[in-house]
Amino acid sequence: MRLLIAGWHGQVARALIEAAPSLPHIKALAAGRAALDVRDPRSIERAFSDISPNVVINTAAYTAVDRAEADEDAAFALNRDGARLLARAAARRDVPILHVSTHYVFDGTKKEPYVESDTPSPQTVFGCSKLEGERAVAETNARHVIVRTGWVFGPSGRNFATNILASANGSEPLRVVADQKGNPTYAPHLAALLLDVAGRLAAEPADGLWGTYHAAGSGVTSWHGLATEILARASVTSDTEPTVIPISSVDYPTAAPRPKNSTLDCGLLYERFGLRLPPWQEGVAACVACRFES
Ligand SMILES: NC(=O)c1ccc[n+]([C@@H]2O[C@H](COP(=O)([O-])OP(=O)(O)OC[C@H]3O[C@@H](n4cnc5c(N)ncnc54)[C@H](OP(=O)(O)O)[C@@H]3O)[C@@H](O)[C@H]2O)c1
Repeated sequence: MRLLIAGWHGQVARALIEAAPSLPHIKALAAGRAALDVRDPRSIERAFSDISPNVVINTAAYTAVDRAEADEDAAFALNRDGARLLARAAARRDVPILHVSTHYVFDGTKKEPYVESDTPSPQTVFGCSKLEGERAVAETNARHVIVRTGWVFGPSGRNFATNILASANGSEPLRVVADQKGNPTYAPHLAALLLDVAGRLAAEPADGLWGTYHAAGSGVTSWHGLATEILARASVTSDTEPTVIPISSVDYPTAAPRPKNSTLDCGLLYERFGLRLPPWQEGVAACVACRFES
């Protein structure tokens, strides 16, 4: 399988690039923005000609949720128009696209986990741009799988886990939001699942698999719960275990409102692909171990 991954330095792309070599049937070729700018059709054409992929994974995105509120054009140019251009280039060659999306397409008011058939109602520019991106991919390339995920963390780069570990100096208590809930998703776990899905899409026939799916870590917690688990795990190898004080969302204002409920029901993915992500706590354990090993 020749896999073209749009994005290079991103959290999910890096996890894909690290996981792919362990699968001998996959030749993954990731292209950073300089080689593959998803806003530029000529750049996309070049990447397709150079790589001749039989599956494309789109991880490229404008992901600065707060900045997007004042930078709408840039968010839509990447998350909607870039996604469409990539999906179109793939469709012209009859190549399937696996497009990564987000729980931000929902408003977070539902009490239960969101299922794929729930009506999206994004409350932020970022969420609107990602929803439009999903629609653009689906309209442009019938051979698409859209995977919505959430609360992605990993051992490197800037993300919630690395931020918590960096701020834990043992002297100051951390104040972390406790009234938003989600499914923390360990980037390497997500990457392994995406590669599995990509493999299935490359193998014919993949009919009956096209569509939108949810894929997030198993289990639910709050940001406060996640921070507490990360620090509890880290204390195995560190002397410090600072207190984590639960706070309300109103005490942590952001330019873009955060959904109260970001949880995703991932049953459809299990039903159709037989795939499910491990419990989020396993992701935390692996993340902390990896962080302290490196
Ligand atoms: N992180 C999360 O918690 C989370 C949650 C739910 C869904 N997701 C989704 O998962 C996907 C990947 O997210 P992530 O966390 O890996 O994001 P990320 O770390 O912000 O990475 C985004 C990537 O997009 C690339 N990019 C930016 N502009 C580009 C362009 N014009 N052409 C090509 N590439 C461009 C960036 O490249 P540069 O490095 O060159 O800037 C970067 O590699 C996104 O669709 C995101 O919405 C993420």
